[in-house]
Amino acid sequence: MPKNKLNINDIKVIQAPLAGISDIVFRGQIRKYSDSCLMTTEMISSEMLCNNPNPRIIQFEEFEYPLAFQLVGHKVDKMVKAAKILAPYASMIDINCGCPVKKVVVSHDGSAMMKTPELACEILSAIKEATGLMVSAKFRLGWSKTQENYIEFAQSLEKAGADFVTLHARTRADMYQGSADWNKIKLLVDELKIPVFANGDIKTLDDAKKCLEITNAKGVSIGRGIMGDFSLPYRIEKYINEGIILPEPDLVEKIAMLREHLRLEVINMGEINGVKFMRKFYNYYISSVRNASKYRAKLVILETEKEINKVLDEILHIHSLDCV
Ligand SMILES: Cc1cc2nc3c(=O)[nH]c(=O)nc-3n(C[C@H](O)[C@H](O)[C@H](O)COP(=O)(O)O)c2cc1C
Repeated sequence: MPKNKLNINDIKVIQAPLAGISDIVFRGQIRKYSDSCLMTTEMISSEMLCNNPNPRIIQFEEFEYPLAFQLVGHKVDKMVKAAKILAPYASMIDINCGCPVKKVVVSHDGSAMMKTPELACEILSAIKEATGLMVSAKFRLGWSKTQENYIEFAQSLEKAGADFVTLHARTRADMYQGSADWNKIKLLVDELKIPVFANGDIKTLDDAKKCLEITNAKGVSIGRGIMGDFSLPYRIEKYINEGIILPEPDLVEKIAMLREHLRLEVINMGEINGVKFMRKFYNYYISSVRNASKYRAKLVILETEKEINKVLDEILHIHSLDCV
């Protein structure tokens, strides 16, 4: 089987797409732990890709496979053209029907696609036919609490040929507030023949266990839970496949992950951009530290890798004193 081909039965964990986060370095770090987690690129605008077929956002390495490229857009011709550009490199294409951000939905993209299910289906089947790849869609419960249409939406995607779906169990109106409603994922699992992956608020191995018990989903899709712990997908897979519960990395291990993440982003983007990029992650890596917000405030104004490593040394020193 070619390296980039995918058997969905092998997939228990999907790394959820995270714009501005799940770049080539992020995905590569997950792959150091897990051979089988399905990686996903950040969302790629089909319009942008058609105008510039070689942007940085589609950067990837072969060792990342299996790798889904996620497309966002609502024009059938542009989505098909973009998918054809990606097809030689992609294990599969995922269609973004869940992004709630205003500038995306005003263009009828992302979760606005849930208002036009026929169009979403047309895009999905056209991409499948044009590329011969597996195609999935990631969506929410609906536009708002009074407009929840995730079951009908998913049933039409299934008819249109979707290979699987991922449900983020919030509405567009919820944005990221409140809790994901895993009971609704269970309702969807009961209605579909194709696999359903559960998404939303799975931040630990315990969350994954609970979510799978409630939903009976084929697997889980994890976004923010991986920020600050690249081993999470592997630990969840180990539990699902072998019933083995591996411990969460401790602070020393998390800081080692952070240093490596920083090092690789600096190599990838240069020191100025790499250091700025990493400011999004500190909260996640050092959340367990006493006075975490004080250290985060220190870290986000630093401009060199060396200065950051010095503060990380300080955190580890204080932490070792706390532990005696
Ligand atoms: C910073 C950020 C960027 C995101 N970018 C995307 C994206 O590009 N495509 C997408 O389908 N969802 C995107 N999402 C949504 C996540 O994939 C996921 O559905 C959501 O965060 C809930 O899962 P979690 O609780 O595991 O993070 C993004 C979420 C965040 C926080």
